[in-house]
Amino acid sequence: MTPQLEPFHAITISTIAQRLMAEGRSVIRMEYGQPSTGAPSAALARARAVLDEEDKGYWESAELLARLARYMEETTGVAVSPQQIVLTCGASPALVIALSLRFSPGARVAIARPGYVAYRNTLRALSIEPVELPCGPEVGYQITAAALAALDPAPDGVIIASPANPTGTVIPPEEMAAIAEVCRTRGIRIVSDEIYQGITYGAPARSMLPYDREAIVVNSFSKYFSMPGWRLGWLVVPEDLIGQARARMGNLFLTPPSLSQHAGLAALDCGEELDGHVRTYARNRDLLLAALPSMGLARIAPPDGAFYVYADVGHLTQDSMAFCIRLLEETGVATAPGIDFDPVDGHRFVRFSFAVSTPLVEEAIARLVPWFQAQKVLAPA
Ligand SMILES: Cc1ncc(COP(=O)(O)O)c(C=O)c1O
Repeated sequence: MTPQLEPFHAITISTIAQRLMAEGRSVIRMEYGQPSTGAPSAALARARAVLDEEDKGYWESAELLARLARYMEETTGVAVSPQQIVLTCGASPALVIALSLRFSPGARVAIARPGYVAYRNTLRALSIEPVELPCGPEVGYQITAAALAALDPAPDGVIIASPANPTGTVIPPEEMAAIAEVCRTRGIRIVSDEIYQGITYGAPARSMLPYDREAIVVNSFSKYFSMPGWRLGWLVVPEDLIGQARARMGNLFLTPPSLSQHAGLAALDCGEELDGHVRTYARNRDLLLAALPSMGLARIAPPDGAFYVYADVGHLTQDSMAFCIRLLEETGVATAPGIDFDPVDGHRFVRFSFAVSTPLVEEAIARLVPWFQAQKVLAPA
């Protein structure tokens, strides 16, 4: 039988949200991790100009490859050549390419649980076995060097994500170094998903590249650059994998949209506008964190990055999907059920995305606080 994948449950929530909106209900969309801000203005201007000016055939922008190599060097301190950059249609195909480059069917790859739903499912689709490492609040919901060292037998690989989805937690630099060291010693290959880099609320999140030059780095324009629908991302691959990485991209996906490549190039020079979005997320985060205690939601990992709060609602439900549906129907606030991120304990978690505008976060809090307080009254002692 071919690998069977679970659905993305947040999509079900989103479908219900859209139905409610079509019925005239006011819905606040906190179920998806997508910026509501749109592409930076210079990227939009460039795209508009290109629409009138240029042919849009299959294409790979040499300028974008060079600019991304420079961006990687500026943000990681590691020299990266344009040849090491592979343009992709977002981080999702980049993950497919990275995993199929490093691992054969039957290989075992460690991932954090909770973790991004597509890690488990992409691994399964490629007939690679996910090795789920339970990561609780005591380790910031993140994979540690100690956990990797304790795995017997050693896995063939590991996916690192810092900041992570669904928790927003960041791996500290000394732990990144320790993870790289354990992986080097035990022959574990690292794929580092760095899609939330640039969105942090304290110290910046570190790339894995300075710690492991052999790591494959996955990144995208979907989060910090606020361009999820443009379907543009990139990989950084070590020299010896360049040919095979390009062969995979070419055969499986051809090229990313040419319009997006033009816009993406412009977006790379929009740091001021994009950092303004991060300041908005920081305000949203503060508002939400301040409101959580009055909602009775004390058990969370304060997110150091990304734009999520992953909250334990186990005192109210053991069925996060049913809970999210009821929450949506009764308050108009759409959230993602924990079962997307954790097949074992996710039934008692909910993820809030605060990548919406600050007034919407304020409105969501105004709806959520009385609703949660009413649930507490109804909850068994
Ligand atoms: C951790 C993580 N990796 C990858 C992706 C996929 O992003 P993209 O839109 O670039 O395919 C997401 C999307 O939410 C994500 O959260």
